[in-house]
Amino acid sequence: MDPVAELRGVAKHFPGVAAVEDVDLAIYPGTVHVVAGENGAGKSTLMKLLSQVERADRGTILIDGSPVHFAGPRHAQSLGVAMVYQEFALAPHLSVAENLFLGREPMLAGLGAGLINRRRERDAAGQLLERVGLSLDATRPAGTLSIAEQQLVEIAKALAIDAKILIMDEPTATLTEREIDELFSVIRGLRDRGIAVLYISHRLDEIFRVADMVTVMRDGRVVATRPAADLDEERLVRLMVGREITNLYPKRHVEAGPVVLRVRGLTRPGVIEDCSFEVRAGEVVGLAGLVGAGRTSLARTVFGADRARSGTVEVDGRPVRVASPRAAIAAGIGYLTEDRKREGLALQLPVDQNITLANLPSLGGLLRLRAERAVAQRRRDELDIRTPSLRRRVQLLSGGNQQKVVVAKWLETKARVLFFDEPARGVDVGAKAELFEIVGELAADGRAIVLISSYLPELINVCDRILVMREGRIAGELPRSEFSEEAIIALATGVNSMNCSTNHEVP
Ligand SMILES: Nc1ncnc2c1ncn2[C@@H]1O[C@H](COP(=O)(O)OP(=O)(O)OP(=O)(O)O)[C@@H](O)[C@H]1O
Ligand SMILES: [Mg+2]
Repeated sequence: MDPVAELRGVAKHFPGVAAVEDVDLAIYPGTVHVVAGENGAGKSTLMKLLSQVERADRGTILIDGSPVHFAGPRHAQSLGVAMVYQEFALAPHLSVAENLFLGREPMLAGLGAGLINRRRERDAAGQLLERVGLSLDATRPAGTLSIAEQQLVEIAKALAIDAKILIMDEPTATLTEREIDELFSVIRGLRDRGIAVLYISHRLDEIFRVADMVTVMRDGRVVATRPAADLDEERLVRLMVGREITNLYPKRHVEAGPVVLRVRGLTRPGVIEDCSFEVRAGEVVGLAGLVGAGRTSLARTVFGADRARSGTVEVDGRPVRVASPRAAIAAGIGYLTEDRKREGLALQLPVDQNITLANLPSLGGLLRLRAERAVAQRRRDELDIRTPSLRRRVQLLSGGNQQKVVVAKWLETKARVLFFDEPARGVDVGAKAELFEIVGELAADGRAIVLISSYLPELINVCDRILVMREGRIAGELPRSEFSEEAIIALATGVNSMNCSTNHEVP
């Protein structure tokens, strides 16, 4: 079989970084081809070269055997290359149907010539949505769709241009387990129809669930391309990081001390209802629940980013009024947000300033600069933040390295309580282990940690206790001795999964 796309000796350099270096790669139709590698390895850049968002410095890209002369992403689309970005590009105020045919609208003939044939647009949209398993009204504004639905619309858009190659950059980062299952069945369907799916992911479990082929990149180069069947987790990790990682979720044993955070009856109508919990010094407490259960809202309310209508918050036995994030930080509460782009980082500022942004308020001038530099250097080494310079604007770092900067920033605070909201999202395996190592250190240092994560193995391995939220309430609590994915899911859904499966067998 001939490859549908081929890269030969392709390279792309940015100031101070060889993002992609001398890459040869063949992509075959009817294959799910995963690209894996550490943060900053060059995965996203390679995909941007193929989809002609970026122009290669060197090398040849062939589609269906013919060399492509760079003319931008529209041109790539006309050749059948479609890319679904992690930050979606749908126009929120336009309908789903309008989004699907933007710039390629079916036109009316005869009297109405020059006008868009809305009826045909709607019908065609319905057919495309069906192909990705979405049953929704195509006249709805795209902005009213859930993230998972928007993603499927993006895929439908790719089908609308008859894509032969569909590129997805970390598509599951914001999806729930159920949505991930649905996405995977759509992907398999596309593959079975001969489409080549290129898929970037950091989640090992996922890679082995969908991949036919795996390409591993390190420092801009391809270090291996293998059938997924020839790899296992251990081998894959070794290829990615070039060394063995024995423990992906290091957990430190810390004796719990006095209560640091006490929350009583916290309520924000319609979002969180009567939430009460405590976290002791040295404890890592997990916050589990389905997307929308209120985990992030609870954290934001304790942090003063959202207003509570009633309830109290105490830190180290002292009542605090969390009227704003500033007040919360002053009271010793830190919140590492899940949305790094919007809330976590000053993208235009350099790495070192971002790391020290929430701190060092009292230092001025030269002293501050020097302190900033030293702190940033230490965190860069610990978390292995890949950047040619600490003075580089955060915007220019790879996705995972941006996330590491957010983490570094909060590690620097003197906060007594730290909420980590999906801290490991988009972070590579090596750095993930490092991150949880540091979480353990913070706990051992007598701080109280709350970890929000949708990835259950992470919670189960790293936490001392898990609180499970459902519909804005804390539905239950599990001690470490009772941790299991089933127990968490049962509390999160309010459905005992064992009962559920017997029900299914009743004819
Ligand atoms: N527009 C740009 N300007 C400068 N440097 C860039 C630019 N885009 C990417 N880089 C750099 O190129 C390197 C590769 O980045 P890339 O985004 O391809 O990595 P990645 O493998 O996708 O990482 P991640 O897993 O963190 O998303 C990084 O060092 C990054 O900082
Ligand atoms: Mg990337």
